Amino acid sequence: MNPTDRDHFPADPARPHDGAAARESLHVLVLSGSLRTGSVNTRLGSLVAALVTRAGATAEAATLGDFPMPPYDGDAEADEGLPPGALALCERIAAAQALIIASPEYNASVPGVLKNAIDWVSRYRPQPFKDKQTLLVSASPSMVGGNRGLWALRIPLEHLGARVYPDMFSLAGAHQAFTGDGALTDPGLGERLTTTIGSFLDLAEADTRYLCLQRRWYEFLGDRTDAPVTSRAQD
Ligand SMILES: Cc1cc2nc3c(=O)[nH]c(=O)nc-3n(C[C@H](O)[C@H](O)[C@H](O)COP(=O)(O)O)c2cc1C
Repeated sequence: MNPTDRDHFPADPARPHDGAAARESLHVLVLSGSLRTGSVNTRLGSLVAALVTRAGATAEAATLGDFPMPPYDGDAEADEGLPPGALALCERIAAAQALIIASPEYNASVPGVLKNAIDWVSRYRPQPFKDKQTLLVSASPSMVGGNRGLWALRIPLEHLGARVYPDMFSLAGAHQAFTGDGALTDPGLGERLTTTIGSFLDLAEADTRYLCLQRRWYEFLGDRTDAPVTSRAQD
């Protein structure tokens, strides 16, 4: 067997690859970054969770309101550790193989409540965002759909080692973008969202199995490797 053939085999021979079963065991947390009743991001999160389920994976939808926590305070952390809401969020992220965040854009950036939750979670060990396959989506009544907020959201997540998927999805005019049953009124956009989620799930599923993918990712992050640069380029 040459090295290329070997790379196409599952990392763990005790778990032979079966596409349908592999997707079923993929657990995805879909987290809305809004606290608001009637949030368009929570609606988008519900649609995303339904599409994840339709794609054969297991989805769990949640909002930041499920994890109440105070503003981060180093003194409170030193005295009492992480608050229960932050601990619960850490456990839910750690239990999922993949994370999808549906976030509003506030002032062209990340809403304070979501950044606050990320800050609390970053204090937990092992740090739950590290190596987590993560997809970012947004919804906004504006014409850019909150996309600038997602670029800002990438920064703390990538800093924490989350594997933030290159494609993102932003829903413009979100107050008018949903049908009564929660689908998107624009079929082209619905197809694009479905395709993005399917591609993301393929990567997340592959990441649970293929050591070669993990090795390549680490190398691109500049983690230590003994391989000479030329070998890595040819790998
Ligand atoms: C403080 C604040 C700042 C906002 N800044 C932006 C912005 O920069 N870009 C944008 O598209 N919408 C902005 N909005 C509008 C939100 O996109 C809108 O309120 C949206 O419904 C929030 O998401 P949600 O419905 O999921 O809570 C802002 C809203 C608030 C309250």
